Amino acid sequence: MEKEQILEMVKKYYREKHVRPPYKGGDRINYAGRIYDEKEMCNLVDSSLDFWLTAGKYTEAFEKGLGKFLGTDHVSAVNSGSSANLLAFMTLTSPLLGERTVKRGDEIICVAAAFPTSVSPIVQYGAVPVFIDIELPSYNINISRLDAALSDKTKAVFMAHTLGNPFDIGSIQKFCDKNGLWLIEDNCDALGAEYTMNGKTRKTGTIGDIGTSSFYPAHQMTMGEGGAVYTNDPLLHKIIRSMRDWGRDCVCSGGEDNHCGQRFMGQHGTLPFGYDHKYVYSHNGYNLKVTDMQAAIGVAQLEKLPIFVERRRANWDRLRKNLECVSDSIILPEKQENSDPCWFGFIMTAKKKNSRNKIVAHLEKHNIQTRNLFAGNIIRHPCFSNLINGKDYRIVGDLKMTDEVMNNSFWVGVYPGMTNEMLDEMVRRIKEAVNL
Ligand SMILES: Cc1ncc(COP(=O)(O)O)c(C=O)c1O
Repeated sequence: MEKEQILEMVKKYYREKHVRPPYKGGDRINYAGRIYDEKEMCNLVDSSLDFWLTAGKYTEAFEKGLGKFLGTDHVSAVNSGSSANLLAFMTLTSPLLGERTVKRGDEIICVAAAFPTSVSPIVQYGAVPVFIDIELPSYNINISRLDAALSDKTKAVFMAHTLGNPFDIGSIQKFCDKNGLWLIEDNCDALGAEYTMNGKTRKTGTIGDIGTSSFYPAHQMTMGEGGAVYTNDPLLHKIIRSMRDWGRDCVCSGGEDNHCGQRFMGQHGTLPFGYDHKYVYSHNGYNLKVTDMQAAIGVAQLEKLPIFVERRRANWDRLRKNLECVSDSIILPEKQENSDPCWFGFIMTAKKKNSRNKIVAHLEKHNIQTRNLFAGNIIRHPCFSNLINGKDYRIVGDLKMTDEVMNNSFWVGVYPGMTNEMLDEMVRRIKEAVNL
């Protein structure tokens, strides 16, 4: 049997079983969802028939393709966005970075209105997250507090572009440059967003030292589970690859041997001379690689990514325009100056105290899925109960707006599967909800 015959059957199966009927009034409107066609399914089956399983030809094609989309030199695919954040942060702890190495007890500036795994690598390592409040309506860090956060232990700034709206990268990059700090952009919710600085427009995630992505189904593109870490810095890239792939020193990919021709010729640590370089470990690493099946889906999604980005922007614009009339009751989102966001969702904050839950209940009752802004205030979660303020973490001033968002904000979707009818139904129900 030829592979082509199987792939023809997969295409037919997709058309028969996966093509959804168009939206009818009253149907569920999810906040996100996978958008795919026969190409993703054929790539997945093609890869499974190859049965290479681990990172291989599709992973290589995916890393190259994502690098091209982002305009960045080095991309490393990983198995989730949380792994990407872990890897990005742990890269900064490499001794290869000399006096800029992040050590235990060093401080990392971040926000408490966060996704948990943008903060947990800092805590797990024993560095100290220093939390700054956010501001509305950008839902990103309040940069006026950056100077107050700085101490002689500060080594990095690490936070997400909230719901696809870039934070003020211009000011933050200037602050990092002035103080010799690393900048990690958690780009998991913002793939495709752009920011213009010094007359140059670049994709978010590629402006700081390291960027991260998630390919969980809700995100700008998907491979089921998956993620990526990217950088323009060859030394950071070398550390990322080492830590991703068990901590090893050698750059040969899995299954490849003696690419450099020096495999049995070096002195490494106190190992015997000529110890097999393929099994020499320069970092205490992980295995965070993707399978080739995940990457195969990613390769097909990359082709659609520019359209996904366009659709998200157009959907957000339609909601923003048609909801202007409720701005007395709801704080509407605003895009960051100098940016072209790639929206993950449409976030709103109820102005009247205790009215968020009533609005959300009305939307959910009418089959419109809603979400809160991730952890709200991460410090108020049980995972922080045993951590000590002033020792394990620090707060700069107060977190008043973070708590405001925890109490009064919610968001709805703008994913490319939304039609104008669905968007207009959301507008109608939101208008109803604020007048209840
Ligand atoms: C900002 C942000 N960072 C990190 C992650 C983690 O990604 P993953 O679910 O792929 O682990 C998410 C997930 O939604 C996220 O929104």
